[in-house]
Amino acid sequence: MGHRIIATVLFCVWLFGKSHGAFPNQINIGGLFMRSTVQEHSAFRFAVQLYNTNQNVTEKPFHLNYNVDNLESSNSFSVTHAFCSQFSRGVYAIFGFYDQKSMNTLTSFCGALHTSFITPSFPADADVQFVIQMRPPLRGVVLSLLAHYKWEKFVYLYDTERGFSILQAIMESAVANNWQVTARSVGSIVDPTEYKRIIEEMDRRQEKCFLIDCEVGRINTILEQVVTLGKNSRGYHYILANLGFANMTLDKVFAGGANITGFQIINPENPIVTQFIQRWERLDEREFPEAKGTPLKYTSALTHDAVLVLAEAFRYLRRQRVDVSRRGSAGDCLANPAVPWSQGIDIERALKMVQVQGMTGNIQFDSFGRRSNYSIDVYEMKIGGPKKVIITGAGGRRGDASSLSV
Ligand SMILES: *[C@@H]1O[C@H](CO)[C@@H](O)[C@H](O)[C@H]1NC(C)=O
Ligand SMILES: *[C@@H]1O[C@H](CO)[C@@H](O)[C@H](O)[C@H]1NC(C)=O
Ligand SMILES: *[C@@H]1O[C@H](CO)[C@@H](O)[C@H](O)[C@H]1NC(C)=O
Ligand SMILES: *[C@@H]1O[C@H](CO)[C@@H](O)[C@H](O)[C@H]1NC(C)=O
Repeated sequence: MGHRIIATVLFCVWLFGKSHGAFPNQINIGGLFMRSTVQEHSAFRFAVQLYNTNQNVTEKPFHLNYNVDNLESSNSFSVTHAFCSQFSRGVYAIFGFYDQKSMNTLTSFCGALHTSFITPSFPADADVQFVIQMRPPLRGVVLSLLAHYKWEKFVYLYDTERGFSILQAIMESAVANNWQVTARSVGSIVDPTEYKRIIEEMDRRQEKCFLIDCEVGRINTILEQVVTLGKNSRGYHYILANLGFANMTLDKVFAGGANITGFQIINPENPIVTQFIQRWERLDEREFPEAKGTPLKYTSALTHDAVLVLAEAFRYLRRQRVDVSRRGSAGDCLANPAVPWSQGIDIERALKMVQVQGMTGNIQFDSFGRRSNYSIDVYEMKIGGPKKVIITGAGGRRGDASSLSV
């Protein structure tokens, strides 16, 4: 009798072990945040919490655990330290941010150690492996829009902290099409009167059209100067190369009569967005800083979606009975030669194969881990607020007339 019970128990254990390989019931993921990504950090923890509290075992077959490191600086010493501490704790993949200074160090560690890095940061200019880019590139839509408005003489203000990809595309098109582009790097400007000086200089050159390629905060500061100088009257046109159109303060600029065009990746009518925002706005500010009272950033939405991507990739690996459990080496990231993680390639492949619907629409990647089959909405400021515009023949491949699809 006793034997039979033990035999049955053993059989069950064997069956269980068989049916899911030895898939861990906890998946450890790393998180690398920077000083400027407070809201994204809250969004990350909240998205993991939403996943972990899901009662449906089909959707939540394992628990997500995270180890977070905050990067105080993006010098290569701190980045190496943070990456190595994550790697040695045995994370299966890392979610995080990079900037122009830390990108190379991070991506080369990821490539050497086969550790996937999922990021809402600006898309890398070069093709890199083991990097899953949540943020779709704006280069294509910006060029389509310039063609649509037939801009041939304009000012391009850019911040290289966001990479060089739009800058390069603009310069190439300028040469090919004989455009007169005045480009100014504004990434290192801290004193707002510096913008004032640039705007006044452009005014002397009779420039009326501006393409501003910066993060939301900097765009807002530039636009304040535009309003102060009165360069927002009829005849001026500002294109904001940023995915957070709804979160820029444009009323004053628009009130002067200027045209403003921008892009948006969050569709406020998407039920995933409305559901998320309902719960997000009820969160306790002490536990989730910047959840209340601060507009939701598009990078926070991309962060939420990255957690969906991670969960879906590991569900897939579990269904495929891929044994991802990390055995053997404790994970010395500076070992020479590098000892990559044996399951890293399977994990990277699974991440790139994901297709899910998130706050930023359809999420799919190409073989370089870049978003594919996505759509970016184009908005123009109109009386009564931003309006989605229909741009036909603007290079959309999916034939979605209400947005420019890439
Ligand atoms: C659990 O989730 C799966 C996949 O989303 C769904 O098909 C199923 O109906 C859900 N089960 C319950 C009990 O809600
Ligand atoms: C501003 O928009 C109006 C209406 O769409 C258009 O007629 C006008 O040419 C635009 N002006 C500039 C400077 O782009
Ligand atoms: C910021 O964007 C979010 C998402 O699109 C929107 O719900 C919110 O109202 C916006 N906030 C502001 C102040 O514009
Ligand atoms: C593109 O995304 C849509 C959902 O938005 C999906 O129905 C379609 O199958 C996708 N196309 C490809 C080629 O994967």
